[in-house]
Amino acid sequence: MVLKVRRFDPSTGSVRYDHYDVKHRPGMTVLDALLHIQERIDDSLSFRYSCRGAVCGSCAVLVNRVPRLACRTQLDAVMQGTDTLELKPDPTIGELEPFNQRFEILVEPLPHFHVLKDLVVDFHKFFRFHEATEPVFRAPVGLPDRELRLEPAAVKELEVYTNCVLCGACFAACPVCGKNPNYWGPAALAQLYRFAIDPREPQDDRRWAQGNHPDGWPACEFFANCKLVCPKGVPPNLAIGAARRRFGGPSSEPLTTETGEAAKTEPVAPVPAEPMAPVPAEEPMPESPQRDAGDAATAPDEPPEGGEQNSVEQSRPAGDSKAEPNPDCPVVPEPGDGGTGEPNPA
Ligand code: SF4
Ligand code: FES
Repeated sequence: MVLKVRRFDPSTGSVRYDHYDVKHRPGMTVLDALLHIQERIDDSLSFRYSCRGAVCGSCAVLVNRVPRLACRTQLDAVMQGTDTLELKPDPTIGELEPFNQRFEILVEPLPHFHVLKDLVVDFHKFFRFHEATEPVFRAPVGLPDRELRLEPAAVKELEVYTNCVLCGACFAACPVCGKNPNYWGPAALAQLYRFAIDPREPQDDRRWAQGNHPDGWPACEFFANCKLVCPKGVPPNLAIGAARRRFGGPSSEPLTTETGEAAKTEPVAPVPAEPMAPVPAEEPMPESPQRDAGDAATAPDEPPEGGEQNSVEQSRPAGDSKAEPNPDCPVVPEPGDGGTGEPNPA
C-alpha cells in the first residue's frame, strides 16, 4: 500500500509529494501508517496526534481529499471504497493533486488553514472564532437556591453539540470558510447554538444575537459538508438552520435536530444583545505550531512567518486572503489571519 503525502518545508517554502510504501496490517489506520513512516522510513515527516482514539481532535488531515481524523480512518476501508463521502465541491480549492485511487492513499493538510509543516496546520484563527462565542456557561443572575438540573431530553439535545472535539474537519470542508476568511465557521456556530439552547442559561436572546452578524449565522450557504465530515456526528448545519429561522431568515434545513426532535425555532423578536466586547487581540503566536507540548509528531524547525499559504497562488480567488475586516464581526482580525481562507492546492 502506498501513501502519497504532501510535504511542505518551511525553511525553503518548497512543496512536494512523497510516496511511502507501507506494509499493510489488518485494522491499520491512517495514523498508524503515518507513525510507521515516521518511525521506520522518514523521521522528518510532521503531523499531529495525541489520543489515538478520536477524542482529542488533533489528527485531522485530508485523506483522499476528505477531511478525516487519521486515527479513526481505516486504510482498508478507504482503499476498498467502503468508506467514502461525497462532499459538495469546494470552488475555492485550487488545482487538485492527481493520485491513483486503486493503489494510493492521498494524505494532505486541511484546507482553509495555514500550513506550518507537512500535515501540521495553524489552528490559531479557528480557536479565535471559537473563543468569540464565549463557550462557557452563563449562570443566571442571582444564586439559584438549588442546583440547576437538566431534563434527560435536554441532555440528549445538548449532547449532540457538546460532542465536538474541535478537530477542524468541518471548517476544512466548508466552501464558505474558503471564500470568506471572516466567517466564524460551522464548529463555532454549532458551539454557540449549544449554549443558546441550554435551558439553564438566562432565557434572553443574547446567544442568538451573538451569531447574528454577516459572518455568523447569515453567512452559511448550506453546503452541509460540515455534517457529512464530522467524526463525532455534530450537525452544525442544523444548528445554523434553526438560528436562521429564529431570525426569520431563509434556511434549507429541516426543522429537526439530529435526535429527531423539533429544533427550537419559536420565533422571537430579535432583541439586540448587550454589545459584546470585541475579542482582544492576542499576543503574537509563538513560532511553534504545536497545540500542546508533544502534540506534533515532529516540530517544525522554523516555520516561516504566518506559515505556508495552503494554496496554489495562481488559483487563489481575487481578494480572498485580503478580505477587509467586517465592522459588524466581533472578532478583531489579527495580522496573519487572512490566510485562513486560502484554497488547498491538492
Ligand atoms: S463540529 Fe465535528 S468536524 Fe467540526 S470541529 Fe467539531 S468535531 Fe470536528
Ligand atoms: S489522535 Fe486522532 S483524535 Fe486524538
